[in-house]
Amino acid sequence: MEIRRALPQDIRELLHCLKMRSKYAVLLVFVISLIIIEKENNFISRVSDKLKQSPQALAEANSTEGSPAPAKNGSLASLQELDAAFSQLRSHLHNITLQLAGDGQPGPRRHVLLMATTRTGSSFVGEFFNQQSSIFYLFEPLWHVEKTVNFLSGAASAVGSAVIYRDALKQLFLCDLYILENYISPVPEGHLMPFLFRRSSSQSLCEEPVCTPSTKKVFEKYYCRNRRCGPLNITLAAEACRRKQHVALKTVRFRPLEFLQPLAEDPRLDLRIIQLVRDPRAVLASRMVAFSGKYESWQKWLSEGEASLREEEVQKLRSNCESIRVSAELGLRRPGWLRGRYMLVRYEDVARAPLRKAREMFRFAGLPLTPQVEEWIGKNTQAPRDGSGVYSTCKNSSEQFDKWRFSMPFKLAQVVQDACAPAMRLFGYKLASSPEALANRSFSLMEEAQPAWVT
Ligand SMILES: *[C@@H]1O[C@H](CO)[C@@H](O)[C@H](O)[C@H]1NC(C)=O
Ligand SMILES: *[C@@H]1O[C@H](CO)[C@@H](O)[C@H](O)[C@H]1NC(C)=O
Ligand SMILES: *[C@@H]1O[C@H](CO)[C@@H](O)[C@H](O)[C@H]1NC(C)=O
Ligand SMILES: *[C@@H]1O[C@H](CO)[C@@H](O)[C@H](O)[C@H]1NC(C)=O
Ligand SMILES: *[C@@H]1O[C@H](CO)[C@@H](O)[C@H](O)[C@H]1NC(C)=O
Ligand SMILES: *[C@@H]1O[C@H](CO)[C@@H](O)[C@H](O)[C@H]1NC(C)=O
Repeated sequence: MEIRRALPQDIRELLHCLKMRSKYAVLLVFVISLIIIEKENNFISRVSDKLKQSPQALAEANSTEGSPAPAKNGSLASLQELDAAFSQLRSHLHNITLQLAGDGQPGPRRHVLLMATTRTGSSFVGEFFNQQSSIFYLFEPLWHVEKTVNFLSGAASAVGSAVIYRDALKQLFLCDLYILENYISPVPEGHLMPFLFRRSSSQSLCEEPVCTPSTKKVFEKYYCRNRRCGPLNITLAAEACRRKQHVALKTVRFRPLEFLQPLAEDPRLDLRIIQLVRDPRAVLASRMVAFSGKYESWQKWLSEGEASLREEEVQKLRSNCESIRVSAELGLRRPGWLRGRYMLVRYEDVARAPLRKAREMFRFAGLPLTPQVEEWIGKNTQAPRDGSGVYSTCKNSSEQFDKWRFSMPFKLAQVVQDACAPAMRLFGYKLASSPEALANRSFSLMEEAQPAWVT
């Protein structure tokens, strides 16, 4: 029956809203209650009017409506009214949902930092944010900063570069994109960037009006993917950033979470940090392919049966894992300044259930997940491989995420397990005790994700 079908649908939509937007929930419930009360009042008063009607009134009703069976007809009409009321309620609800989810209604401005390390699937996850047109998304803006500051080395410089990165992130969140000019040499003239690293990975930088007509036929590195654009005018980009409702930045260059406290406490920002991690065994396997030059000594150790790996290499791996773990531990400890601002996400969970995880991330960030994003996820997680590059985001994710297990030499896995055990324990990656276990598809290397990871 129409009414019964309408009701659960409304309630389902309502629950969905409540889950998606707890901040709006109160408002929403209020509005809906008003509508319901209003409709019910209306309906009840009409029904009671009908019941109160004298035979004379019925006769009148009979004559005006020309009904052969007035009482019966009266209840039918009421049902229809009820039905109409419900469809209107439904339409109202639908409109409200659209308003809350759409770009039309300006809600609070969010600043999302996707904090990852290389080969953890951050391009893929970053794309979720890039696909949403209300978000100004930048892919690795710190690349330029790193190019300028990476001549430093040692522990003191780790602090120094963290501060520089942090301050650059802050300016970018505030749409002060001119900060990037400090890290580009020669200094751009007229705020025209000769190139911006992976401009093509930021939709906001490749759409009108930031994409200006291309005048010269110059080769531009990292041009836009689907169209020719003139050199990036930073002023236009900054304006676009201010026009968009939210800002999201992805970086693999920033580790120490504690340095973000000033951003979390900056009243101009509403920061949400998503720390993306991945099984360090998988990360190493992927890095050895993507950055083979840096892993020559590992390759030698593997292929030429050299007695042992250089301790220096193992140490590097260990400190990598430790810096990720230390940040995650801080996040999960939920200090006051991070409350509601930190979420830990494992790449493997995203790969196995991309849409569900995307919904969780967007809900955490207080952003609506638009159909564009859902569509992109659908297209890019089920598609069979089409031979794209190393930074490809287009793969059948649930098939790909643990492929490394079947080609990784066990002794390599062992080195990672030894160096990264504390991090693996924290993130729920199980150690493989033998080559058989490593390659055994029925033996999951993952503990279940924990609800406490969203804080
Ligand atoms: C309603 O109208 C029908 C036909 O028009 C008539 O036969 C009947 O008596 C009327 N009923 C009343 C209550 O007036
Ligand atoms: C009574 O209900 C029927 C069915 O909805 C409607 O077509 C009619 O106009 C109403 N009035 C009558 C039959 O007097
Ligand atoms: C919902 O929005 C549509 C299109 O904007 C409009 O035609 C309709 O009247 C609205 N419904 C309600 C109940 O406000
Ligand atoms: C960049 O854009 C700004 C704002 O539209 C404009 O005023 C400026 O002339 C542009 N710069 C160049 C070099 O085209
Ligand atoms: C993706 O991989 C999963 C797991 O192997 C498989 O069940 C699914 O059919 C694949 N989807 C496509 C579109 O290839
Ligand atoms: C693979 O793992 C499953 C589940 O842990 C276990 O039952 C099975 O014996 C393992 N197979 C081999 C060949 O080790």
